[in-house]
Amino acid sequence: MTTKNILIIGASRGIGAELVKNLAQNEQHQIWAFSRNLKAMEDNFSALRNVKSFALDLNAADVKNTFSSQIEEIESIDILIYNAGFLVNKPFIELTREEIQTSYQINVLSAFEIFQAAMPKFSEKAHIVSISSMGGFQGTMKFGGLSSYSTPKAALVSLTELLAEEFKDTQWAFNCLALGAAQTEMLEAAFPGYQAPVSAAEMAEFIADFSLNANRFIRGKALPVSLSTP
Ligand SMILES: NC(=O)c1ccc[n+]([C@@H]2O[C@H](COP(=O)([O-])OP(=O)(O)OC[C@H]3O[C@@H](n4cnc5c(N)ncnc54)[C@H](OP(=O)(O)O)[C@@H]3O)[C@@H](O)[C@H]2O)c1
Repeated sequence: MTTKNILIIGASRGIGAELVKNLAQNEQHQIWAFSRNLKAMEDNFSALRNVKSFALDLNAADVKNTFSSQIEEIESIDILIYNAGFLVNKPFIELTREEIQTSYQINVLSAFEIFQAAMPKFSEKAHIVSISSMGGFQGTMKFGGLSSYSTPKAALVSLTELLAEEFKDTQWAFNCLALGAAQTEMLEAAFPGYQAPVSAAEMAEFIADFSLNANRFIRGKALPVSLSTP
């Protein structure tokens, strides 16, 4: 097996941090981890020699330039997982402009620029996996208070399908996973006391396996990954 360069955006905690640990078990994987909290990543991954961590703020105006320079030394990208997320659980009428804009920026707008910056380095069969939510998946149960979170997650589903169409002449696979509840800080902050049926590590195990293998069979799809939400 040859070395795979795997980039994980949103890697400091929760599912993203577990993804790094899971994928780094294979020493032929070189993992590139990105989030604002560099210290958390360096502490979390200090024992993993095949992980490099980078401070990246998806809400910064120069995110594309910063990310481009951070990935300059990478020859080719085999897997890119856009896992970062931002959740506000608040009545629609009370949402501030800043909350709505931040949510759109992190949940979908920055995905445009991250993909644009990474694209020239995609390997022949690169797999680009976007992490959405069941709330952004058409026809699922919806929750009041999540309008600023679930709408950009729906746009991320749409972006996946559109990129698959626009780049259908390549062998790149753009896929999107719409997750149900997994036990993380984000979930606890949004729904205090709720117990999710899967842990962050279990969800990461599924996403890691999907990212490594599913592009042989699945392209341009958004798939629900949920034990909980109908
Ligand atoms: N947990 C669930 O039940 C659930 C359900 C459905 C979908 N999801 C989705 O799954 C993904 C992971 O969720 P999680 O529960 O593990 O969330 P989490 O614990 O809140 O982690 C979110 C990650 O996104 C990063 N992030 C947030 N704002 C950022 C910014 N401005 N710049 C760079 N990185 C930023 C965070 O890093 P920093 O704060 O260090 O920057 C962190 O690493 C998210 O996309 C979430 O929407 C989760």
